[in-house]
Amino acid sequence: MQRRARAWRGENLRVAFVPTMGYLHAGHLSLVRRARQRAGAAGRVVVSIYVNPTQFGPNEDLSRYPRDFARDSRLCRAAGVDVLFAPADGEMYPAGEAGPYSTYVVEETLSRGMEGSSRPTHFRGVTTVVAKLFNLVLPDVAVFGAKDFQQASVIRKMVRDLNFPVRVEVAPTHREADGLAMSSRNKYLTPEQRAQAVVLSQAWRRAREIVAQGAVPVPVLQAELADFIAARPGARLDYIEIFDPETLAPLAQAAPGARLALAVFFGKTRLIDNETI
Ligand code: PAF
Repeated sequence: MQRRARAWRGENLRVAFVPTMGYLHAGHLSLVRRARQRAGAAGRVVVSIYVNPTQFGPNEDLSRYPRDFARDSRLCRAAGVDVLFAPADGEMYPAGEAGPYSTYVVEETLSRGMEGSSRPTHFRGVTTVVAKLFNLVLPDVAVFGAKDFQQASVIRKMVRDLNFPVRVEVAPTHREADGLAMSSRNKYLTPEQRAQAVVLSQAWRRAREIVAQGAVPVPVLQAELADFIAARPGARLDYIEIFDPETLAPLAQAAPGARLALAVFFGKTRLIDNETI
């Protein structure tokens, strides 16, 4: 991958990159379209598919994470992707002569709250694998989805702090007709859970309506939304945070322009969503 990327650079071709964990859906394909716009017709679009073990906690869904390489491959071909890069675990985290893999990238501020407190080792795995992928693909631009808003902020910060010569772009969340954010994990939902999962987007819409009437103390809004979610049988709230979209710092008052993020369990499946309220 790196040899090819260096050759493209030698030919002055723009490289746009979409890192994924596969099981592609329409949301991923919208990122690929954005990547093609950024690369231009003459440039190169690379998609990576790698279910990165270091970003999963010990009791998370690494082994059952959905995979369908043949289908992903067809979708990438149809979307005009130039290279589908799908490395194996042994290539990404090799045990070498000097012992097992032992180098990690850690962002220490933006990664602390929300997903970082519910999944303590998650962002260390994300920043490490994205740094490695950037070094392999050598992209000019990398496109991430806003559904993982905190992830995009952490990666932007890593890029700035470590001087990666990559522009990070964040594309809007792609949603099903009823508002559910597209995610490979939606596949885990039973039909009943799928019907209830719409509560995530209903919650931020409700928050939008509330703050449109005037600013509210965050604990009041959190309590109201927690009740709203608890009214759905089968939904178990993990967190709701209202924060500054630049610093990710929690806010005391919820007002228009703040960002809301939430995580909700349906059985063992944990879904996230976020939007500006
Ligand atoms: O968002 C994802 O799919 C993953 O976290 C990423 C960025 C591909 C890193 O494994």
